[in-house]
Amino acid sequence: MLRDTYQRPVKDLRISVTDRCNFRCTYCMPLDQYEWVDRHEILSYEEIGRLAGIFVGLGVDKIRLTGGEPLVRKDLDRLIARLAPLGLKDLCLTTNGALLAEQVPALKAAGLRRINVSLDTLQPERFRKITQRGDLAKVLEGLFAADSHGLRPIKLNAVIERGVNDDEILDLVEFSRKHGFAIRFIEYMDVGNSNNWQSEKMVPKQEILAVIRGRYALREAGREDSSAPAVEYEFADGGGDLGVIASVTEPFCSGCTRARLTADGKLVTCLFSHVGHNVKALLRNGASDEEIREFIGSVWGSRNDRYSDERLEAMQSAQGYQAKNRKKIEMITLGG
Ligand code: GTP
Ligand code: 5AD
Ligand code: SF4
Ligand code: SF4
Repeated sequence: MLRDTYQRPVKDLRISVTDRCNFRCTYCMPLDQYEWVDRHEILSYEEIGRLAGIFVGLGVDKIRLTGGEPLVRKDLDRLIARLAPLGLKDLCLTTNGALLAEQVPALKAAGLRRINVSLDTLQPERFRKITQRGDLAKVLEGLFAADSHGLRPIKLNAVIERGVNDDEILDLVEFSRKHGFAIRFIEYMDVGNSNNWQSEKMVPKQEILAVIRGRYALREAGREDSSAPAVEYEFADGGGDLGVIASVTEPFCSGCTRARLTADGKLVTCLFSHVGHNVKALLRNGASDEEIREFIGSVWGSRNDRYSDERLEAMQSAQGYQAKNRKKIEMITLGG
């Protein structure tokens, strides 16, 4: 079985289907200086399907579609229909939810199993401010449409930023409990180069949990599997569960089995990497499946990424950690 230099297999493939997005979340893509990928450079659904098949041959059993915003790409259900027969354990989508309401029936019919939806606030004005253009009502409509079509479990992603939405932790918990969604609180990360991350804006996991424990007793349930970013907690009263993704204060690189494929066909081995390995060049130059498999195998075989572990080590060192010192691929190119 294929392993990287730390003996981590490749199990999850996160496929970004477009770098476009109908939002401009301040923590992800605040600037309008991004150079959008040219349409001709974007992988076709046929190309993505072929690569996905090769990754499955190498050990991948879970595929997540991301963006930018994946639902801005036309007819995404056609891609899902191509991926559904691959025999995956999990086929899911991370979305901002704005275009969900109209697309849910087609996505479900094509074989999508479940979705994660970003939701950082329940206040319409604040929602618009964070996303710099989003309409909260549309997202909620999408969320409930997905629920009523059985795209479950639905997980909500809330990035908590100090001074922005840290006063809403309990409101988000209440909302999720009431509707049967699983909320995950995410530590604000220094992804990309343009979100002006400062460690003081990051609300640590222990602080988030302390707020929730002020109202609800929680029981730690561990990770869904050893490579999952989220640690799960169950409400002691049986009111469901929630998760915390603590990439900054409790990094999980040692179990990281995630490969990322950008919309323009680059293989990226870490969310904080600045290198994309050009798989598309092989695809479009007539390479055989075997040649592509060898290329991916050699990239993964020499993988030594552990960025979040290194960040924590630096934060704890005398020199401290400077987010700006390292160039990274933008979040909107990688989709998380
Ligand atoms: P599930 O399969 O439902 O557990 O989803 P997920 O948490 O793996 O994916 P999702 O797209 O919902 O991402 C939630 C948050 O986790 C986002 O902020 C991602 O950027 C972050 N995340 C996902 N994978 C990684 C990773 O490998 N490293 C780091 N540092 N963060 C990650
Ligand atoms: N820190 C943490 N999470 C982030 N996301 C986007 N930018 C950041 C960041 N700087 C999350 C989004 C979305 C997921 C794909 O990544 O909220 O839910
Ligand atoms: Fe926001 Fe997601 Fe779009 Fe980034 S890709 S701007 S997090 S909706
Ligand atoms: Fe994996 Fe990189 Fe995230 Fe660590 S920082 S968990 S190596 S993607």
